[in-house]
Amino acid sequence: MIDLSQLKRLAGERAVDYVQSGMAVGLGSGSTVFYAIQRLAERVRAGLEVRCIPTSLVTERLARSLGLRLLDFSEVAELDLVIDGADEVDPNCNLVKGGGGALLREKVVAAAARRVVILVDETKLVGRLGAFPLPVEVLPFGWQVTLRRLERLGCRATLRERGGEPFLTDNGNFIIDCHFGEISAPAELEREIDLIPGVVESGLFLNLADLVLVGRREGIVEEITCRARPSPQRLPA
Ligand code: A5P
Repeated sequence: MIDLSQLKRLAGERAVDYVQSGMAVGLGSGSTVFYAIQRLAERVRAGLEVRCIPTSLVTERLARSLGLRLLDFSEVAELDLVIDGADEVDPNCNLVKGGGGALLREKVVAAAARRVVILVDETKLVGRLGAFPLPVEVLPFGWQVTLRRLERLGCRATLRERGGEPFLTDNGNFIIDCHFGEISAPAELEREIDLIPGVVESGLFLNLADLVLVGRREGIVEEITCRARPSPQRLPA
């Protein structure tokens, strides 16, 4: 039995090697990034100077509790680096994200960063995206119509719930999880999802990752450099 938390810790801590003094850093969300934030705080206590933008209220609370300096987009136009987790990573470095429901802020932050470093344990590597249900953030208004339109794209769609109530994102929206099984054409699917009124953002992160750090059960971190490809969502270089 692998101890996944060990693999997450390996990848999470390695990510902080890419942080340099003076950087504005985006902090992702989830259990893998948790280890990165802990390590980052250690380096800050040792003298590293960074300012961070968190991608969720949970991450914000953690960062504050560890004494990290926070900033927002009124103070900085772009970030030097973002470190974040993922739910699936395909061989082209395309991602599914949003298992924790933070995908919207994660995408805004990733798209505003010069470098996006993704941290995962090896179980997140897949040949094709889609086994993990694709999270889509939607407006609460008319979510039933949005859900039916998502299903017409070929998935079984379910409204995410917590404690018998709809799960609410940090932005006051709902999440619909779309069970596709396998996504053969991620870019086309992303375009089709984005065209549905009521959709705020999907958890497909295409052409956004620059580097993927994979915690392996052999106790090493594999570094996968992603092919740089233009993405209309990225800031111009
Ligand atoms: C948060 O909404 C997600 O995008 C996370 O980054 C993703 O679910 C990975 O989380 P773990 O590191 O907890 O697996």
